[in-house]
Amino acid sequence: MNDTFLKACRGEKTSRTPVWFMRQAGRYLPEYQRVRGKVSFLELCKNPELCAEVTLQPVDRFGFDAAILFSDILIPMEAMGLALEFYEGRGPVFPQPVRSRTDVDRLCVPEPEETLPFVAETIRLLRQALRVPLIGFAGAPFTLATYLIEGGTSRTFLHTKKMMFQEPELYHSLLAKITACASACLQAQVRAGAQAIQLFDSWAGALAPCDYERFALPYVRKIIRDLRAMTGVPLIYFANNGATLLPLTATLEADVLGFDWRLPIGEAARRAPDHAIQGNLDPLALLLPQEGLEARIRDMLWEARGARGYIFNLGHGVLPETPPDQVRIAVEAAHRFSGGVA
Ligand code: CP3
Repeated sequence: MNDTFLKACRGEKTSRTPVWFMRQAGRYLPEYQRVRGKVSFLELCKNPELCAEVTLQPVDRFGFDAAILFSDILIPMEAMGLALEFYEGRGPVFPQPVRSRTDVDRLCVPEPEETLPFVAETIRLLRQALRVPLIGFAGAPFTLATYLIEGGTSRTFLHTKKMMFQEPELYHSLLAKITACASACLQAQVRAGAQAIQLFDSWAGALAPCDYERFALPYVRKIIRDLRAMTGVPLIYFANNGATLLPLTATLEADVLGFDWRLPIGEAARRAPDHAIQGNLDPLALLLPQEGLEARIRDMLWEARGARGYIFNLGHGVLPETPPDQVRIAVEAAHRFSGGVA
């Protein structure tokens, strides 16, 4: 069992820096494309055998030090009673967005073991097959709320901010429901065997720090406290585009803070001395020629040397256009330069 990832999360010494990538499973891999050629994305997410297969693909191919459950942050939102569709090139769509009191009251807080049995089953299959730790995940409540309120991906978050500023009570009641759902799903993942948890706050960076503090952070804190009360598994919080939020996110009782590439990793290590840190290579820096990519990774490992613990990752997910061989170069470089054998 390779436990370098779990040790780094806890700030313990490791023989080399553990590596995993957000979106390490996905369309950049031909073996994923082959599976997706046969089923839709939603069908894939609900099929434990196929989910386990695509979770293992990048771990087997590149030797990542952790696996991340194949699913999506929006799957539990469907279980709350919302129609969800995924379109090629357009991403997720909720055809009936949540905008009114009636919409919020209609949402249910699902019992994950009953409504999402395929998630726990995937986790059980993976634990039998894996020799690296398995990360479970959920979307952070603010990020989930943006999809529900906007009805999909957004640039301005007009409807979300309108609800925040004009109907704060409605906004807070929606967030409370989403939080209860995400918390229950994560607890179910841990019961099924997830060995660490990551909360994805992909859109946190769209908020002014004072609004993040009122409208997003309390719900993240609640989920972390719920999990802390039931389990000792490491908790990772990733706020995308979150450099200006660091004074606030550093108050969270997470074990690990994840960073996007807009903040130098050495600065993250200095400003979050009580947390292990994770990140933060620009996913498109994977397009650098080999020498430049390796030099960049060597510099990052050096910069992060003072961190309480360091997990090498990208600053956001692998993009579909990424050549798989570049991922291999990056994983091997991170292993080699951090001291261990690749
Ligand atoms: O390997 C892994 O990281 C595990 C699986 C995973 C997926 N989505 C699979 C996926 C994880 C952890 C996620 C998280 C997720 N999903 C986030 C947070 C991370 C982030 O990227 O900010 C968000 C915002 C979503 C919502 C979502 N799902 C969007 C916006 C899209 C469309 C964009 C895109 O890349 O197509 C998805 C679809 C999705 N989720 C795909 C995958 C592999 C592509 C679907 C396909 O095969 O067509």
